[in-house]
Amino acid sequence: MAGKSKILFIGGTGYIGKFIVEASAKAGHDTFVLVRESTLSNPTKTKLIDTFKSFGVTFVHGDLYDHESLVKAIKQVDVVISTVGHALLADQVKLIAAIKEAGNVKRFFPSEFGNDVDRVHAVEPAKTTYNTKAQFRRIVEAEGIPFTYVVNFFFAGYFLPNLAQPGPVGPPKDKVVILGDGNTKAVFNKEEDIGTYTINAVDDPKTLNKILYIKPPHNIITLNELVSLWEKKTGKNLERIYVPE
Ligand SMILES: NC(=O)c1ccc[n+]([C@@H]2O[C@H](COP(=O)([O-])OP(=O)(O)OC[C@H]3O[C@@H](n4cnc5c(N)ncnc54)[C@H](OP(=O)(O)O)[C@@H]3O)[C@@H](O)[C@H]2O)c1
Repeated sequence: MAGKSKILFIGGTGYIGKFIVEASAKAGHDTFVLVRESTLSNPTKTKLIDTFKSFGVTFVHGDLYDHESLVKAIKQVDVVISTVGHALLADQVKLIAAIKEAGNVKRFFPSEFGNDVDRVHAVEPAKTTYNTKAQFRRIVEAEGIPFTYVVNFFFAGYFLPNLAQPGPVGPPKDKVVILGDGNTKAVFNKEEDIGTYTINAVDDPKTLNKILYIKPPHNIITLNELVSLWEKKTGKNLERIYVPE
C-alpha cells in the first residue's frame, strides 16, 4: 500500500458511494467510511456493511453535521471523497470547514458524479441541483482546496434498464417518451467503472484541480439509438412519443 493515498468517504454507503468504496479498497488504498450510528443499525445496510468489512474498510463514526467528528476523521487520511445525495449538496460547506481546519487534505472530490454542471443548459428539476453543484465548485476553488470533479454523465444502472424513462424501473413495453428530438448524444457509464476511474484519479497529478470526464467512445449513444437497439433485441417496436423542449 506504500505510496497510495488514504481515502475517506462521506456518503460511502449511498448508491454511487458503495461502488467507489469497493474500487478504493480493491485498489489497495486504506479506505475509511464515515458512518452515522443510524446507518450501522439500519437492517437494510447490514449486508453492505458486512461487505465493506470483508474488504478491510475502516468505519469512522461521524456525521456531516458534527464538525468535530469530521475533523477527526479527515486527519487520518489524505483524500476526501464526498458522495452525499442531493439533499446534502449545499451542506458540503461543512466539509470545507472541516478540511480547512484539519489542514492535511491533498485532494477533495465533491459530490458531483453527473454532468459537467458549468456546461449544461438544464431545465428543472435538474437545473436547481446543477446550480447547487456549480456554486459549490466556486466555493471549493475560492478556498484553495485541491480538487477533482468527476463528470461521469449518466449512471447506467439508473437510466439504461428503463430507457431513461422517469419513474419505471423496467423497460417500457409499448410506448417510450423521448425528451427533445432524441438525437442528443448522452454518455452512460457502469457504476463499477465510475468507481475504478474515480480511484485511478486519486493519485494522478494530471487530474489535480481538473475535471475528470469519463466518456469511453462506446458508451456514447443517443436515446433514439438506444431505443432502436432495444427494439432490435426484443423484436418489438415501441411507439416513440417526442416531447419538444
Ligand atoms: N449521474 C447520475 O446518473 C446520477 C444519478 C443519481 C445521483 N447522482 C449524483 O451522485 C451523487 C451521490 O448521490 P447518491 O444518489 O448516490 O446518494 P445517496 O444514495 O442518497 O447516498 C447518500 C449518502 O449520504 C449519507 N448521509 C446522509 N446523511 C448524512 C449525514 N448527515 N452525514 C453523513 N452522511 C450522510 C447516506 O447514509 P445512509 O447510507 O445512512 O443513508 C448515504 O451514504 C450526488 O451528487 C448525485 O447528484 C448522479
